[in-house]
Amino acid sequence: MWRGWRDVLTRLGFETAALDAKLLTQHGLGLDAVALAVREHEAVSEADAIAVAALLQRRMSGESVARIIGEREFYGLAFGLNAATLEPRPDTELLVDMALGAMPAGGRLLDLGTGTGCIPIAILANQSDAIGVAVDLSAEALVAAEANAARHGVTERIALRHGSWFEPLQSGERFDLIVSNPPYIASDIVETLAAEVRDFDPRLALDGGPDGLAPYRIIAQQAPAWLKPDGHVLLEIGYDQGAAVSALLLEAGFADVTVHRDLGGQDRVVWAQGLDAS
Ligand SMILES: C[S@@+](CC[C@H](N)C(=O)[O-])C[C@H]1O[C@@H](n2cnc3c(N)ncnc32)[C@H](O)[C@@H]1O
Repeated sequence: MWRGWRDVLTRLGFETAALDAKLLTQHGLGLDAVALAVREHEAVSEADAIAVAALLQRRMSGESVARIIGEREFYGLAFGLNAATLEPRPDTELLVDMALGAMPAGGRLLDLGTGTGCIPIAILANQSDAIGVAVDLSAEALVAAEANAARHGVTERIALRHGSWFEPLQSGERFDLIVSNPPYIASDIVETLAAEVRDFDPRLALDGGPDGLAPYRIIAQQAPAWLKPDGHVLLEIGYDQGAAVSALLLEAGFADVTVHRDLGGQDRVVWAQGLDAS
């Protein structure tokens, strides 16, 4: 059955037609890859055929396979999605790698704009003595983050807080590491993005204000007050934002600010440390 859908998607120009058709057929029939292969030539009930067709219809309308299935893998872990969460992207795995390198033993982490919770949950799942606070303005996103934290066994080590950037923090809290993958697309560019992103990813997760830098201004200005003296900040950026975000962090008093590229050779993370105490 999936081969028929593969041919439909191919004709419509979907580059990953075979994979998409297979994954959605598996999901619709409740089968894994092996079971689908074994039962490939068996007839399916009318109800199952209708269920699979409905999933394929959504794909044909531009919704991603991950959104239809309701989860996406990130850093080797499966993250549940909902309408308020961005799909975790492989690009963001660089930030997790760098965070794991920067976190001291027993370190305390703050993630701003946590979405599915993919960044802090991946860090905590890989560093068993780390603890963290994760903030999002979307209460619905935090519902997904809570479920993901439970799924990956880190509920006891992560506090999920609802509010804007640093607002939900309590006076006196200090962190070894502040990380964020904030919305960083300029408002007028959001409308021009591929339909898969523009029509299905939540706008709150994409729109970084008129020049795409509004969240970075707040984070750079306020991070020093919440960091331990030798703390670090790691921010995911758009490919052309390295210089602007670095300038904001230098202005905020960080002495050592570097831009790091992802595997595709694009600037992806800005790392700030060496807070100027003067
Ligand atoms: C680009 S998404 C990143 C989600 C997740 N950290 C990831 O890497 O997949 C940005 C996130 O910031 C959240 N956000 C937007 N404005 C915010 C604000 N003022 N305060 C806190 N979170 C905010 C959005 O709801 C969204 O979850």
